[in-house]
This record gives sequence, structure tokens and C-alpha cells, in this order.
Amino acid sequence: MAEKIVVLGSNGQIGTELVTALRKVYGESNVVACDIRRPDYDIKNSGPFEFVNVLEKDTLNSIFQKYKPTHVYLLAALLSATGEQNPKLAWDLNMNGLLNILDLAITYQTAKVYWPSSIAVFGPNSPKDNTPQFCVMDPNTVYGISKLAGERWCEYYHQKYNLDVRSIRYPGLISWKAAPGGGTTDYAIHIFHDALKKGTYASFLNAATELPMMYMDDAIRGTIELMDADASKITIRSSYNFAGVSFTPEILAAEIRKHIPEFTLTYAENDPRQNIADSWPRSIDDSYAMKEWGWKPEFNLERLAIEMINNLKK
Ligand code: SER
Repeated sequence: MAEKIVVLGSNGQIGTELVTALRKVYGESNVVACDIRRPDYDIKNSGPFEFVNVLEKDTLNSIFQKYKPTHVYLLAALLSATGEQNPKLAWDLNMNGLLNILDLAITYQTAKVYWPSSIAVFGPNSPKDNTPQFCVMDPNTVYGISKLAGERWCEYYHQKYNLDVRSIRYPGLISWKAAPGGGTTDYAIHIFHDALKKGTYASFLNAATELPMMYMDDAIRGTIELMDADASKITIRSSYNFAGVSFTPEILAAEIRKHIPEFTLTYAENDPRQNIADSWPRSIDDSYAMKEWGWKPEFNLERLAIEMINNLKK
């Protein structure tokens, strides 16, 4: 059966690149981009687009009715920092958006569903280094709470209704095509923009805050590899730990200085995102993803910095 793919939240940082990648693999007309916001030129002109709010069940139902998708990717969400500014909205969007899609996927017998989780599912009492797949999880952001609850729902729908739902716990994703969406890891993107534009950046995280990160190309490739993997290989139906590279603002600045020697980094005090970062892992053990479906990252810090600088310069 030919794939028909619906991507909800297509205009965000991940969606923008995932839609383009999926259209290359499955054909432009077979990948329907959906968002509440107007799409950018590339998304709009390379295939179908629909205005969809994932909290509006009737609209969602008509999308499933119209396209009968074989694969659905649900990316619409409020991230960690913006979630804290509006906790009830974050919970509503992140949770009820997911439940709406899981239910429709059962009704319309959607073959596969993809939903991203995050390193935000971990909390202050989770091991910080090489954080294992299974450990104490006590997230203290509404974003992390919604992602952990969502993981449990995904596994529940798999066990109870045999839904083929797959998920990855993304680290901070570094990219240049679309703006990041209000996360705690966003400093690692802003720093490149400001280094090129102003030669200086004021980081909202302190010098030694180490967080797991990944270049977007790796994240997109990993996502498609997980979705392509044979179902028999996938034992985890909550969400897979997933790792690229870990670094601190200080280490990232040193890497940027190899290309922009005069770059200076300062630190902003008392940003609420510092507390969020301090509750998250420093590095992630992603051995289940490696063993079960062959995950392997390609971009180290050096390569990631070169890609960011060269592409943003253009
Ligand atoms: N990048 C996300 C955030 O900082 C983590 O999933 O919120």
C-alpha cells in the first residue's frame, strides 16, 4: 500500500525539516503538512497543506477522513520554557492533542503513529550522566510531565489496541532552517545567530551547564529510521533514549571561536530556564536505540558547528 502521511505541527523547528525529508522519500503529494500557522514558502509550494488545530476534533476527523493517512506524525506541542508560562495550555495541547490522534488512529486504522518525547521526561532524581532508558523519572516542568504521561499513553495504546506507535526522546535539537520553539536548549541555536551577527552572545544558561544535544539532520534521519524499522525490532513503545553530543555553553563557545576568533560569550543571571536545565540529564545512554534499530549519530560538535556557521552565513 502506498504511504499517505500527515504531519501535524508541520511549521515548527522539526516539522519544517521532517516534511521536506518525507516528501523526498514518499513523494510530495503524499505528505500532507498541517499547522495552525501559515506555512513558509517551501512547505506550501512542495505539497498539500491544511490548517489544523490538534485540539479541534472535528477538523482532525475530517483530515483523517479526507486523506486516510497510513502514517501520522504529531509534532504540535508547547516546549519546556513556553510551557512554564502557560502550564494549563501546555498540558491541554500536549496531552489532549496526543489522545485525539491516538483515538483517530484506532478509528481509521492508521498503520503507524509517530510522537516525539524529550529528555525533559527526566528530573532532579534521575541519574545525570549516561541516563539510562529505565530509571527514576520525576520531571518538574509541565512539558516534562506531559511528555512522560504521553509516553505512558503511547505504550498503553500499543498494549491495549495494538497501535503501532513509535517515539524518540529528543535531546536539544540544533538547526538553522526554522526558529526553535521556546525550549531550554534554544541557547545553543541563538548563540550561532548572534556570533555571526554581533560577535557576542549573552547565554541564559551558565558556563558549565551540560546538556544532551543533536544536529537536526541526525534527528530527522533517526526518526525516519525508527519509522522504517521492522516492528519486531521495536521493544520500547513508550519512547527511546536518543543521543548525539553533550556540551556546555563554554565548550560550544570555544568551538565557535575556532571559526570566529573574536566571539565573546557572557552570561545572563537568574533566568528561569537555568532551573529547568539543572533538572535534566547531562548525557544519555541510547544503547536500546543502537541495538534494536541500528541508531548511530553522525554529527559531533565540530561538524555541527561547521554546518551551523556555513549555513547561517549564506
Ligand atoms: N528542546 C526541548 C526544550 O528545551 C527539549 O525537548 O524544551
